[in-house]
Amino acid sequence: MSLEEEIRRLKVEKDAVLLAHNYQVPEVQDIADHVGDSLFLSRKAMEAKEKVIVFAGVRFMAETAKILNPSKTVLLPDLKAGCGLADSITGEQLREWKAEHPGAVVVAYINTSADVKAESDYCCTSSNAERVVQSVPEGKEILFLPDMFLGDYVRKKTGRAMHLWVGDCPVHAKMRPEDLEHARAAHPGAPVIAHPECGCSTAALPSVDRILSTDGMVRFAQETTAPVVLVATEVGILHRMRRLNPVTKFLPLSEGVICPYMKQIDLADVRDSLRDHQFVIDVPEATAVRARRALERMVAS
Ligand code: 13P
Ligand code: SF4
Repeated sequence: MSLEEEIRRLKVEKDAVLLAHNYQVPEVQDIADHVGDSLFLSRKAMEAKEKVIVFAGVRFMAETAKILNPSKTVLLPDLKAGCGLADSITGEQLREWKAEHPGAVVVAYINTSADVKAESDYCCTSSNAERVVQSVPEGKEILFLPDMFLGDYVRKKTGRAMHLWVGDCPVHAKMRPEDLEHARAAHPGAPVIAHPECGCSTAALPSVDRILSTDGMVRFAQETTAPVVLVATEVGILHRMRRLNPVTKFLPLSEGVICPYMKQIDLADVRDSLRDHQFVIDVPEATAVRARRALERMVAS
């Protein structure tokens, strides 16, 4: 029996749904019940009727699923699937930052630990960060964390004053404005789409055609008629884009933009996770109750 067949059989036997992020390896995306960005997958996790949610993504995504749908068993197939950006701020650091700004509203990107979410008023993802920030009552001081590039982008788009935590994604921050210049020179006229976590997204903003979440990029891929599109994000997304639009050539803005955390999970890990019920992601109830408030605002936005 192939690994794919085993996984399909185990999903039925264990009453499980398999969610996969757009950056997962192609074969994991292909066997998943739902593939998408953080917001889409959070909503799918919240609505899941199955007993078990297997999250082929990273830890903060699995924690979010557990917080939003606490009666389910949430499994992360590999515990090494963390997130460098989420590691850039701890709950303790956020408490200290809040103490310096009494009364400020905290908007946390979903790429944070459950402890950080519990200290936050709102959560957002790359697809709804602008809407979430706009929903904060005017005149409130805002602390935005942890991604300074996303924060700066949202600050410009909304015109809202925000204090930014100086964190970044080690994968996206590597892309520099020079990469954009080189790619543009090699493919004149090709549209450039970029994730807001990119280090180049703020400095080179005027020359990027669209700043989009990963699902926003997938929608762009479905609709474009351009012969070549330059894609500034993790290379895992190219699989979905190429499958949905085999005519356009989708090229990474820079080679080697690979998230090591997103690449921890392979088909054998998914099979083992389903078969051996590993690795269970739990969030202490006291933390979950506080984090849920911020996450419910995110899924409603
Ligand atoms: P998306 O929500 O746009 O999929 O982004 C998640 C992420 O981790 C990007 O690095
Ligand atoms: Fe985290 Fe960056 Fe990987 Fe996204 S690409 S999961 S932000 S380390």
